[in-house]
Amino acid sequence: MNTSTSQLVDNFGRKVTYVRMSITDRCDFRCVYCMDEEMTFMPRNQVLSLEEIVLILRAFCELGVEKVRITGGEPLVRRDVDWLFEQVGQLKQTTALKELTITTNGSQLTKYADSLVAAGVDRVNISLDSLNAQRFLELTRTGKLDTVLSGIDAAKQAGFKRIKLNAVIMKGRNDDEIVDLAQFAIDHDLDISYIEEMPLGQVTHQRHESFCSSDEVLAKLQKSFELHPSVTNTGGPSRYYQVAGTSSKIGFISPHSHNFCESCNRVRVTTEGRLLLCLGQEHSIDLRAIIREYPDDIERLKQAMIDSMDIKPEGHDFDIKEQPIIFRHMSVTGG
Ligand code: GTP
Ligand code: 5AD
Ligand code: SF4
Repeated sequence: MNTSTSQLVDNFGRKVTYVRMSITDRCDFRCVYCMDEEMTFMPRNQVLSLEEIVLILRAFCELGVEKVRITGGEPLVRRDVDWLFEQVGQLKQTTALKELTITTNGSQLTKYADSLVAAGVDRVNISLDSLNAQRFLELTRTGKLDTVLSGIDAAKQAGFKRIKLNAVIMKGRNDDEIVDLAQFAIDHDLDISYIEEMPLGQVTHQRHESFCSSDEVLAKLQKSFELHPSVTNTGGPSRYYQVAGTSSKIGFISPHSHNFCESCNRVRVTTEGRLLLCLGQEHSIDLRAIIREYPDDIERLKQAMIDSMDIKPEGHDFDIKEQPIIFRHMSVTGG
């Protein structure tokens, strides 16, 4: 049950308590399901400044938002990102904010893990789609597996409350590693989520050919592990199973096969300050325009956030067989 006192309530009675903020569309990887090989990134003056990001998050948390996830692109490639985390971490003292989290590709964690924990980041989600170095390079086009594995170690040493791996499973590309990835998570005392690929932005491959449903992933895992449905709810879209005899949980993010829109509690802010009311629709309002016109007027910003609830759609219309209807790449939207 959602018992929060959030002032952000949409027309379907859903309370918004979770904001996902993309702080850069840039990334040092080019994952095949996320980006094209050649990407044009946003000009810097269109991107929110770090101060603008803090202002937007403060406004949300003053309205009752309890969970903030910093995403990208790769959030840790943004300059002075540690300053941003310090500022946002402090909102826990003055606002409704209870949990600060980050989603990262792990490439910069050896550098940043300690300062993130010091700033008050509670949990980290790290993408890991393969344990084979050559394949990891193929899937990310530029990524080094060893660097990410060292990043995962650094995150463990730094003492986050929980670390979760994210794996997007694609048929014929990494579906033979489903069990190995879960075993890796168990051996390292981590959780893992398996994600169905979503049709966000044009990429090189035909997404429907590689589509692998969560039910297929679950069936494979059940041959190797004893899995018990878990009541755990992180406030995110994963459905979790506990792996018997271990501390690890396995989650499934299944926007196609098990739609979770009816319990949606979140909104997103894109790199250029567009408040997106749904990952799979274009309904949005331009927060950047408001703060650039009225830089000192946080009340006006908050009112715009409250008003935006009127246009939050009931759900997405993803269809993996069709060409994408959403042309934004995940890196702009922030997952
Ligand atoms: P926690 O539950 O807090 O651990 O986070 P999470 O799993 O929601 O966040 P993460 O950033 O690790 O995202 C994992 C995947 O879930 C990404 O592919 C996101 O795009 C996807 N996701 C998160 N929220 C939504 C949503 O509202 N709709 C859809 N379709 N996908 C989502
Ligand atoms: N479909 C599903 N997941 C995606 N991610 C990026 N692009 C897509 C997509 N098209 C995942 C990344 C990361 C998370 C934030 O989103 O693997 O773990
Ligand atoms: Fe970068 Fe994440 Fe997209 Fe991969 S999925 S290219 S790591 S933003």
